[in-house]
Formats: sequence, structure tokens, C-alpha cells
Amino acid sequence: MADSIRGDPRMTVRRMRFPYPESLKAWWNPARPEFSHIVNAASLAMPYLEPYLIETMRQARAKIVDAQLLKDVDLYIGQESTHFRQHQQFNKRLADLGYRTVPAHEATVKADYEAFARSRSFTFNVAYAEGFEAMALTIGHMLVEDRAFLFRDGDAAVSSLVLWHFVEEIEHKCATYDVFKALDGRYVWRIYGLLYAMIHIMARTRQGYRAMLIEDGIWFTWRSRLALYRLLVRIFAKLTPRLMRILKPSYDPREVPDPPWVLAWWRLYRDGGDRLGELDMGKLAEPAPVPRAA
Ligand SMILES: [Fe+2]
Ligand SMILES: [Fe+2]
Repeated sequence: MADSIRGDPRMTVRRMRFPYPESLKAWWNPARPEFSHIVNAASLAMPYLEPYLIETMRQARAKIVDAQLLKDVDLYIGQESTHFRQHQQFNKRLADLGYRTVPAHEATVKADYEAFARSRSFTFNVAYAEGFEAMALTIGHMLVEDRAFLFRDGDAAVSSLVLWHFVEEIEHKCATYDVFKALDGRYVWRIYGLLYAMIHIMARTRQGYRAMLIEDGIWFTWRSRLALYRLLVRIFAKLTPRLMRILKPSYDPREVPDPPWVLAWWRLYRDGGDRLGELDMGKLAEPAPVPRAA
């Protein structure tokens, strides 16, 4: 039964182009510097986190016999590979802006994932991967639901990068779950992986955006701190009920319906929408993505 619904026929590896402007700023959303740096800090982790997930899934691949699941794992690896390469390009632009704390932050995150890969058990690494993916699915839903509020005033290319990434996180929502179920499946490990990945990534992301906001000179201002806390309350109000759902023993990501905006994104790409790397920020509230006019 599970085999017949496993594997999303839409899942595909996409080559994207995000035309960042010459004048790209770290506050790529000038109306939301705190959100800009939350995204920047998360982006800095991707070239270390995603290769770690890929390596874990490569090891898992050797233990899998199901042909459909093998195909899904290959597509998952393909998508994650394009994600971290795209983030590398964006991160390079961020580094060029001269933040002194960026290399140190990258080194910390790199060391974390090297240590996990080297000294943690395979069970831990698969549970971390599934925990991360389950959390990424909730973040994807939150970002898409709140897209107009979060991105409206943002740079089109950076916003489109983030939204594309999470459109694909939603798309491959079942891959690591199916691997975890096939190779282990223990509830305790699934929840441990979720909590560990969440706490680890959130703590590192906070460290990253805090350092950049300190360099910007606004971390200690009440105005920025208030904006940050209001934003975090808004984000967690949307994430928490979705995270609670993952805690249920019967959780299965294929029972999480895909948002209509994401379905429209997939259709647009399939039908030749090659301008999805530059969405029209003024039309984010519309039910389907609208690429910026050429
Ligand atoms: Fe990804
Ligand atoms: Fe992912």
C-alpha cells in the first residue's frame, strides 16, 4: 500500500537562476533587517548541513532495496545538491559585504556537521535528517502562508531563492521519512532526531543573526529587539501547531496537504515558467506566484 503512493511524480531537480543585483545588501529586505539576518544565518549553514544530509542518505542508499525509494533518494540528493550550491553563491555575496563574523560562524557550523558525520551513529544521523526535514516542512508552510508579510519589501532574487528552496522542501517531504521508516522507524529516535535538529539549528541560527545584528550596531537597540521578538512570536505561532503534529506517533508527511500556492509554483515551472527566480514581490498575496515582468 505504502509503495503505491510513495514517490511524488512532480519531484524533479531544477536548475534555477537568481539574478542578485550588484547593489545587494545584507538587509535584502530593508523593511525587515531582523528577518533578513535570520535568513542569512540559515543560508550560511546550508553548504555544511545539506552535504551532511546527502552523505547520510548516500549511506542509507546502500541499505535500501525498494526501487521507488531508491529513485526518491536520488532525487532528494539531487535537490539538496542544488540547494547548497545556490546558497553558496548567495553566501559569497554576503561574505563580500565584509561581515567579520561570517567566516567564524561558517567554521563553527562546518565543525558541527563534520563531528556528527564522524562520531555519531548512523541511526542518529538518519534521525537528525528526518528531524530536519520534518521541521523544514513546517517552515516551508509558514513561509508560504506568510509570504506577503515576510517578503513583500524584499529583494526579488533573494526572496525567490528562499521560496524556491522551501517549495522543494515541501516537494521532498517524504524522502527521509520513508528512509527512516524503512531502516529504523523507532518513534523515540524520530522524536529525538526532531528535537535535536531543531534545537541545534535554531541555536546556531540565533548565534549567526545575533553576530550580524551586533556588527550592524542594532542588536542592543530596543527598536530592533522588539521587532525581532514580535517576528519570532509571529513565526512560532504558525510553526508550533505544525510541529505538534510531528510528535504524533502516527505522523506521516504525506498527510500534510501541499499549499495551493506551491502547487501553482510547480505547475508554472512545469509549463516553462523559467522566471521563477525573480518573482513579482508586489503580487505575492495572489493565489499563484507571478514572475516579475521582463
Ligand atoms: Fe534543502
Ligand atoms: Fe530538504
